[in-house]
Amino acid sequence: MPISSSDLLDFSGRHVFVAGGSSGINLAIADAFARRGARLSIASRSAERVAGAVAQLRAHGNDAEGYSADVRDYDAIEAVLAAARQRFGAIDVLVSGAAGNFVAPALGMSSKGFRTVVDIDLVGGFNVLRAAHAHLRRPGAAVINISAPQAFNPTAYQAHVCAAKAGLDMLTRVLAMEWGADGIRVNSIVPGPIGDTEGVRRLAPGEAALDAMAASIPLGRFGKTSEIADMALVLSSPLAAFVTGAVIPVDGGSSLPGGRDLSAALAH
Ligand code: NAP
Ligand code: COA
Repeated sequence: MPISSSDLLDFSGRHVFVAGGSSGINLAIADAFARRGARLSIASRSAERVAGAVAQLRAHGNDAEGYSADVRDYDAIEAVLAAARQRFGAIDVLVSGAAGNFVAPALGMSSKGFRTVVDIDLVGGFNVLRAAHAHLRRPGAAVINISAPQAFNPTAYQAHVCAAKAGLDMLTRVLAMEWGADGIRVNSIVPGPIGDTEGVRRLAPGEAALDAMAASIPLGRFGKTSEIADMALVLSSPLAAFVTGAVIPVDGGSSLPGGRDLSAALAH
């Protein structure tokens, strides 16, 4: 019997761990896996947000567990990953998407402000992947870092995010090389502007900025969180069995014109 694409996207019984999975794009990714039968572990700082997200995930009828931890704290993340492994077994899919952002010129951010975003987006990403390695299914695990267009589009007022996400994409490529022999694939998804998310609320505060941002996207609209989740499903499936070290924009073509003008957000 021919294998259908829905069989290839069936994650029944698989263990999916999403760092930063309590809201927005990352929660939509977790939700998409839960709908396809996966057992979900999520982690973020706010115990309240984690509890809400876990309730949403459990509504699909599968196991889900949440943990409160900060990706900047290696020991805490290591303990959470060990607990998740004990609960649901080896991790089949690891999504690392915790991030922070604010709009400020380089001279308007302190060293601590710059370091805060680098610590969450880049060092936090390293922490999650480094601590997870011992718990990833070998061979077969898929790791996905959630990057951003600032990784390759120099964008004024985003020095911290540009530096952090560029580093994250390089980490994706390096770990794809180091972990390929273990049968672990490592890729980055680069979302474009996604509607109704905290990320876009910070970069385009107000109706006029939102309209201008939507108009700048070649496909003429914001993306949906489900469209990022779809790419995460495909990248974690046998359909992407030979894909590793890839940095894949899912952005309606929005990064093609180059860095974004964020003056309106700065003035806000
Ligand atoms: P969001 O809803 O604010 O999601 C960020 C998540 O990360 C939250 O669950 C947050 O939960 C968690 N988090 C933040 N700092 C953390 C820390 N130190 N330790 C652990 N968890 C932490 O934002 P979003 O807009 O959906 O963005 C999600 C991802 O997509 C990010 O990686 C972002 O860079 C990327 N992205 C977004 C867009 C967009 O259009 N929105 C575009 C390009 C890339 P807690 O507050 O509970 O910790
Ligand atoms: N402009 C300049 N500096 C800012 C700033 C802004 N708008 N917002 C925060 N900072 C600086 C703070 O002033 C502080 O530096 P200082 O002590 O030298 O003044 C530093 O950043 C850390 O701020 P703090 O609020 O203590 O950090 P936190 O760890 O509690 O929060 C953030 C991290 C700032 C990134 C916060 O916005 C956050 O938690 N974001 C998560 C949600 C998010 O950003 N979602 C979108 C993802 S794309």
